[in-house]
Amino acid sequence: MSQKKLFLALIALSTVSLLLHHGGHLMWAMEVFHLGCPALHSHTGPGLKPKHTNVAFLKTHKTASTTMQNMFFRFAERNNLTVALPVQACTHQFCYPRSFTSHFVHPHTLPPNIITSHMRFNKAELQRLMPNDTIYVTILREPGSMFESLFTYYSQHCLTFKRVPNSSLEAFLEKPSQYYRPHETYSMYAHNTLTFDLGGDKDRPATDVAYAQAFASEVERTFSLVMIAEYFDESLVLLRHLLSWDLNDILYVKLNMRTLSSKQSLTPDLLAKIRAWNSLDAHLYDHFNTSLWLKLSELGPACVAREVRLLQQAQKKLMRSCFGERMPRLRTAAEIKNEELRPWQPSRTVDIVGYDLPENLSHGFLSKAQELCLKLIMPEVQYTRVLLRSQSVRYRQSIQLRPLQQLHRNQKPMKTALPRHPPVDNNQPSPAASSPDSKFTAGT
Ligand SMILES: *[C@@H]1O[C@H](CO)[C@@H](O)[C@H](O)[C@H]1NC(C)=O
Ligand SMILES: *[C@@H]1O[C@H](CO)[C@@H](O)[C@H](O)[C@H]1NC(C)=O
Ligand SMILES: *[C@@H]1O[C@H](CO)[C@@H](O)[C@H](O)[C@H]1NC(C)=O
Ligand SMILES: *[C@@H]1O[C@H](CO)[C@@H](O)[C@H](O)[C@H]1NC(C)=O
Ligand SMILES: *[C@@H]1O[C@H](CO)[C@@H](O)[C@H](O)[C@H]1NC(C)=O
Repeated sequence: MSQKKLFLALIALSTVSLLLHHGGHLMWAMEVFHLGCPALHSHTGPGLKPKHTNVAFLKTHKTASTTMQNMFFRFAERNNLTVALPVQACTHQFCYPRSFTSHFVHPHTLPPNIITSHMRFNKAELQRLMPNDTIYVTILREPGSMFESLFTYYSQHCLTFKRVPNSSLEAFLEKPSQYYRPHETYSMYAHNTLTFDLGGDKDRPATDVAYAQAFASEVERTFSLVMIAEYFDESLVLLRHLLSWDLNDILYVKLNMRTLSSKQSLTPDLLAKIRAWNSLDAHLYDHFNTSLWLKLSELGPACVAREVRLLQQAQKKLMRSCFGERMPRLRTAAEIKNEELRPWQPSRTVDIVGYDLPENLSHGFLSKAQELCLKLIMPEVQYTRVLLRSQSVRYRQSIQLRPLQQLHRNQKPMKTALPRHPPVDNNQPSPAASSPDSKFTAGT
């Protein structure tokens, strides 16, 4: 064997052993290289963008947004960020359905990096409250399943739905205007809820196509990303890229779901009637579902598929490390013994399922890792309370540490744990320059 051949054989051998040793990593590094996917770990290394920490997530109703809120809460806790939370008088929402104002924000949660609790969107007020490089994100859901969900969930809260004989969705859709009163409390759950949450006029007639189009454009100018609940993992991949976050930052457990027995499947006829009744929401959905798929194709379907796969693998791993082989059990609220984990029940006819913890987690001292596991499955109301408590403690400590004369100059943005992202131009006028968007944020 010539020396040259021996050399080549050695090279081949060491390549194989390298692949065997670092197989996973090398393979995916090569895959990434091939596909031209942006790197997964984006917060380290020169030239890579720092994680973006200033985010306003508009939490819409019945759209998997509770799962998103939980993710933002955990990110904030890990990175010592401040989350704007409602004053107690507003409960765990920003006095929804009133239009958002900064008076609804608890003073111990100022100045904020992140805001995610339920509100009726009011762009001008949010711009006054949030840092000027805040990225706006929200989520929409397919109008048919969304309306079916609202109809069941709020059957006892929304007077419109209460009037319907036998709580029959078919009966309601036969003649919606017979039951609907636009100015009643909670009427927004019965008509174009997404449009209302986004600050729009839910009662514009379906014939006003110009309004639907103008409103969608307005939402597009404000929100850098509109996620779609039906493509949740794909939307998360886009979010990760938008915020330069890690894969670990977007792990989640689905929260606030109904049991299968309280769901109803829709016929094409019912679906068409729901879309006709909620035409503004249907327009929004179609518009932003198209945008989402455009963004996904820009990123590259292979990259997206790969990241979705990695996300799902990482999720399984996290669940195993938290709960061992026995995954947390999906249970109805009545069955959940740990009060911290019991989800809110809208009525006796709907079962919202939550998780109960394995015995070894459900009592006693919690380690840091166990605490993360607990937070992953903690319902919205409880987590909001926990977060307010810890932020209040931090606020009081910061007051005690600060010399008295500085108390009144506390208007500068609080230092965040991560380097600030350069200001992002998402076509938002600076807070000072903006005038209230009266057309779209009309108060209630
Ligand atoms: C957050 O704050 C705690 C206590 O002040 C500190 O120990 C921890 O290192 C901080 N974490 C980050 C990510 O800055
Ligand atoms: C954002 O605010 C900072 C000060 O807080 C200011 O220096 C910067 O110019 C502002 N950026 C924009 C785009 O308004
Ligand atoms: C309500 O249900 C009862 C019993 O199922 C039925 O007899 C009645 O016709 C229903 N009413 C309407 C308005 O659908
Ligand atoms: C969303 O858009 C994609 C791509 O155009 C389409 O295939 C899909 O059917 C749409 N989804 C829904 C629920 O309308
Ligand atoms: C809880 O018990 C399961 C199964 O016995 C085990 O796999 C898991 O590691 C335990 N979790 C903790 C946090 O101790």
